[in-house]
Amino acid sequence: MNLVTYDILTQRIKQLGNLPAMPAVLATLCDALSQKSSKIDLDQIIRHISYDKSLAAQCLRLANSALFRQRGDVVSVKDAVLALGLWRIRDLVFSCSLPMMFSNVNTNVGKEVFWRHALGTAVVAQGLGEEFGAKSLEDIYLAGLLHDIGVLVNGVLFVEDFRDVLEEAQRKRAPLEEIEKSIMGFSHAESGRILSELWRLPEELADVIEHHCDPQKQPAPSDTTLLVHAADLVCQKLGLGYGYELQSSEAASLPHIWESLCPRFPAARPFTEAAYSGLLHHLVSAAENLADQVFTPAMATR
Ligand SMILES: [Fe+2]
Ligand SMILES: [Fe+2]
Repeated sequence: MNLVTYDILTQRIKQLGNLPAMPAVLATLCDALSQKSSKIDLDQIIRHISYDKSLAAQCLRLANSALFRQRGDVVSVKDAVLALGLWRIRDLVFSCSLPMMFSNVNTNVGKEVFWRHALGTAVVAQGLGEEFGAKSLEDIYLAGLLHDIGVLVNGVLFVEDFRDVLEEAQRKRAPLEEIEKSIMGFSHAESGRILSELWRLPEELADVIEHHCDPQKQPAPSDTTLLVHAADLVCQKLGLGYGYELQSSEAASLPHIWESLCPRFPAARPFTEAAYSGLLHHLVSAAENLADQVFTPAMATR
């Protein structure tokens, strides 16, 4: 992002305030994971998660869902932490607490649609990363979950402009970032980068958020950026997008998305079209099941 846009946008976002702060439980988990494992205080993490009863209940439900479940039933937060390990617990807590946290914030973005797309991108990107033996596997899910966090920034802080963006993007069936740039002068990738800095997210994560729409603009795109970009397009193609179908184009077709991964991930090459199409549909349906767990009727009325 150019420096002028960055400075102006940072100032505007700071002046407007209104954005939720990173929940304490997430900050604790991120801090714990950035420390050496011998220093991690598991009891403190368990206490933090258990403190918020609805968060703890959500976490337990997800810990027992097909996607996270390891073996046997998880009946307490402590079981969940011990069975899944800290990285997966961090993913799970982010998956539960971010939708809850934004549920009380006024935004013109359909929240359930938004989080279904985010969860979908997380699950598909991680599934592909596992299949290909990608680097930094533990970061991929979270990067997918947060890749569009700038959409919420724009929806919360730039209400009228962003309403126009959503309407025009739907009407033209065009990518959001294209319309954002023409109406607002910046995209959710850029405002997402700024929120990730305000939240002190790790640098690698902020890079994925900034470059997920166009990884080729990143000087050396990471495995995670490429996977999140592909998963984002797959979700938009297979019904987990923003409630409208993108204008069909070669660039957004499944064969093109898959081919774009082959130079970086040689394990993608032997897949036939039927095989990768089956894998992608399977991952999207796993993501839909996970989203159903997050968006129970109780959550929808919060
Ligand atoms: Fe995006
Ligand atoms: Fe997206």
